[in-house]
Amino acid sequence: MSSRNKRIPPLLITVDGPAGAGKTTVSRSLAARLGFLYVDTGALYRAVAFEAVSRGVDTEKDDELDRLASGMDLAFVHKDGGVRLLSGGKDISDAIRTPRITMLASAVSARPPVRRALLDVQKRMGAEKAAVFEGRDMGTVVFPDADVKFFLTAGLAARARRRFIEYGDAGNQRFEDVLNDMKRRDENDSNRALAPLCAAPDAIIIDSTDMNPEAVTDAMAAHVYSRHG
Ligand code: DC
Repeated sequence: MSSRNKRIPPLLITVDGPAGAGKTTVSRSLAARLGFLYVDTGALYRAVAFEAVSRGVDTEKDDELDRLASGMDLAFVHKDGGVRLLSGGKDISDAIRTPRITMLASAVSARPPVRRALLDVQKRMGAEKAAVFEGRDMGTVVFPDADVKFFLTAGLAARARRRFIEYGDAGNQRFEDVLNDMKRRDENDSNRALAPLCAAPDAIIIDSTDMNPEAVTDAMAAHVYSRHG
């Protein structure tokens, strides 16, 4: 039997790392290979940023952010072979991907009321296991007892190049702007006081700078099978 078809128990797998390291692509394909659920936790922080803008919330004020984040009704649903994020029943999956919401998500994700509210949401989502959770603090804070932890990284220029290509013409941004935004986001996400981006001591570190997504997914699946296959 090939390793792709082996049965494994319902595990909780975490994938952390900086923006543009390829987490989304490989987490999604690893989850599909294992028949597990894929959860993009960055989308939850983006949802808070998006709703803050939509509802005119002052993101500098903790009480306003607290009211917003703790009252949010977020759900991932499967649709047309993909996963969509609903906020209050409305599909916001595409609206949360703009450069403005991206930067605001990084800013609000450093704020205590937001982290507190989303910690509960994520823990509830992980209760059933058989899932791949992608984010910044999955293996360190949200699921410190996860069965397999990965930390996926890549050089800044490679990550910015990937994001620039992903935005395409619709992004309407110069490469230098994408690179500078990414650098700022790295700084915000790594230096914040609460749940900063860092590898868990027991995480498997993969540098994807010179690897394609297929090779990264193969390497991750090999680790999962070698421990639990
Ligand atoms: O993965 P992403 O680019 O969609 O995440 C958007 C922002 O959300 C990111 O800049 C940092 C924050 N985030 C976080 O603080 N913790 C997570 N588990 C996931 C994302």
